[in-house]
Amino acid sequence: MSKVILLSGSPNENGNTVQLLKECAGVIEKNGVEAEVVSLAGMHLRDVMDLQEGCEDGFDEIISKIKEAQGFIAGGPVYWGTVRAELMTALQRIAMASMQQGNFLSRKAGGPIAVARRGGVTSAIQEMMMFFLSNDMIVPGSTYWNIAFGQKPGDVINDAEGLETIKRFGENMAFVVEAING
Ligand SMILES: Cc1cc2nc3c(=O)[nH]c(=O)nc-3n(C[C@H](O)[C@H](O)[C@H](O)COP(=O)(O)O)c2cc1C
Repeated sequence: MSKVILLSGSPNENGNTVQLLKECAGVIEKNGVEAEVVSLAGMHLRDVMDLQEGCEDGFDEIISKIKEAQGFIAGGPVYWGTVRAELMTALQRIAMASMQQGNFLSRKAGGPIAVARRGGVTSAIQEMMMFFLSNDMIVPGSTYWNIAFGQKPGDVINDAEGLETIKRFGENMAFVVEAING
């Protein structure tokens, strides 16, 4: 069965980003594709771009999961108007690993999701899109940009329009993953 990995770039184990990614994962699974939410919370990601150096921070295991999967979604909380830096480090490490291991991201389906209290979501989507579009990935759309609003953990579930957009994105992810992988 095909699989999608959803990576949360929030330091909060059960914050808005993880809760939203779980909603998206639920829809992907309902549409016949396996989905797993993984998180950077508590990981203390190292900013090392040379794979030969080796990292003991646990992120290489997440990279392996992404390599094996057919789809990859990045969920980023907005901090000070941009995607949280640790998530961008994660995306750059994944891109380096892909380049050094036969471009494993090539023709996987994927896309970004941004979460914020109020501002910075569309530029956060644009920042993350630089990763998806320059790694030969196929990005499905939705009925709006993949953004949702909330401050305290759980708030995002009350953003009806945000939730609808993310659920449609999940449906389209499953559709594209199945179309590519059969
Ligand atoms: C240090 C910090 C900076 C933040 N900066 C912004 C911001 O620029 N714009 C905004 O709308 N929300 C901002 N927020 C709010 C978060 O984006 C919001 O609470 C989000 O739901 C957090 O996601 P999480 O629960 O997954 O961590 C900030 C939060 C923190 C802790």
